[in-house]
This record gives sequence, C-alpha cells and structure tokens, in this order.
Amino acid sequence: MPVNIKSRDEIDIMRTAGGINAEVREILKESIAPGITGSELDRIAKDAISDRGGLPTFVGYSPWGKPAYPGAICFSVNEVLVHGIPSSRVLVEGDIVSIDLGVTYQGYVSDAAFTTGVGMISGEAQRLLDITAASLEAGINVSLAGHRIGDIGSAIGAFGENAKMGIIKGYGGHGVGREMHEDPHVPNYGKPGTGLQLKKGMVLALEPMFALGDADTYELDDQWSVAMSDDSLSAHFEHTIAIGESGPEILTSV
Ligand code: MF3
Ligand code: CO
Repeated sequence: MPVNIKSRDEIDIMRTAGGINAEVREILKESIAPGITGSELDRIAKDAISDRGGLPTFVGYSPWGKPAYPGAICFSVNEVLVHGIPSSRVLVEGDIVSIDLGVTYQGYVSDAAFTTGVGMISGEAQRLLDITAASLEAGINVSLAGHRIGDIGSAIGAFGENAKMGIIKGYGGHGVGREMHEDPHVPNYGKPGTGLQLKKGMVLALEPMFALGDADTYELDDQWSVAMSDDSLSAHFEHTIAIGESGPEILTSV
C-alpha cells in the first residue's frame, strides 16, 4: 500500500492533536506517584483530553478481532512492555510505568508514550529509561527526507545493542494519520540504506522498546497486555513526527 503524504494543513492539525497529547502526558507525569492506580490515571487522561476538545483515540480500538480497548491510556508496569490495560493495580515506589496516549483532533491521530520511575528507582532501571529515551531521539534525528526506514531502525537498535539490552522485534513504530496505524511499519532494528525511502509529508510514530533481559514477549489473557517472557523490566518511548523540509518535526511535544 502506498504511504500517504500529508499536506501542510493536515500536519498542522496533527500538531494540534499532538500538542493536546503533550499537555495530557505532562499532567499524567505529574500525577504519577506511589499509591495511584492505572484506572485513576485513565480517568485523569479522559477528562484532560475532553477539556481540550480532543477524543481518546485508544477507547474502543479493536484491530484484528481483539476485544475493544477500554482505556484512553496504556498502563504498562515493570515487566509489562506495552498495551497494559489501566487497572486497579497500585503503583509502588521503585516501579517503572509506561504510559501510552492517543489523542484524536479533527479526525487526526497523535500517538506518544513515555516510561518513568515511581519515586526512587534502581540504577539499572534508570539506565534502561535513559537508553530507550536516547534511542528515540537518535531515531528522530535520522528521520530525514531521502533517508530510509532502515536508517531509523539502525539508529534506534544501535543503542539497545551497545547497552546489551533486549531489542523487542515483534512491535514497532508505524505511520499515523486519520488512522492510528498506517503504513509503513517502522522496526526498531535495521540496516542503514535499506527499506522505504522517507519523503517530506510522511508522518510516523517512532516507538523504541527495550528490556533489561531477553527480547521475548507474550500476550496476557486480557488479549492486550504484552509482557516480557523472562519478567525483566521494559521501557517504551514514542513520539509522532513529520518528515519536514528542513528536518523532522516532533508533533507530540508542546
Ligand atoms: N502506541 C501504541 C501502538 O502503536 C498504541 C496502542 S493503543 C491500543 O501500538 F489501543 F492499541 F492499546
Ligand atoms: Co504507536
């Protein structure tokens, strides 16, 4: 399927969607503390999105015959890598939690995620967060017109490799637009100079995922949550970006 190229007007709307996404993520970040639950964070997200005139993209999402996703956020604690359903699980000091948020505005989607510590966390957990966040930045920096999808994967994957972390291969980034998941798929590994060529006006969600242990994952009985097979800590950071004339434009920051 050809990758659709967004016009300047569409990208401007996506930037508004992404700006709301950024504000709501900031509110969630400030709310994260020992004692809070995923359901409470989900309520905060739903209210903050609607206050700003957006819609929670994830609510009701049901691709590939999956049950409709119930939350505005994904709430993935410790060994849960992605797509954790917000629950009454209480965050405790030392946990790491990943929050993924989708905001739709005027029919266009923004998709972004971060992982953060709850209170004091271990040095190795902090290192996992730092390296995963740095890999996202590196991936964004090479997202230039004329470069290829493999350049992004290679830039991201190098961080996981150098740090001897598990690089999750079964999940990755994707195109974003009117749909949350559009072509192309953007793996977090790859060879420079290979894959689809990036063009001005493409909008992509980059989302590196690394783990302290092996990269193998499994799906929980809820049919959404994806966890690490060896129960190791995992991290996930994501931004929606546009390929611009003079470089990448991060749409999901304020
Ligand atoms: N950033 C996640 C992804 O691209 C968003 C998943 S939303 C959910 O997979 F509803 F599917 F959980
Ligand atoms: Co995504």
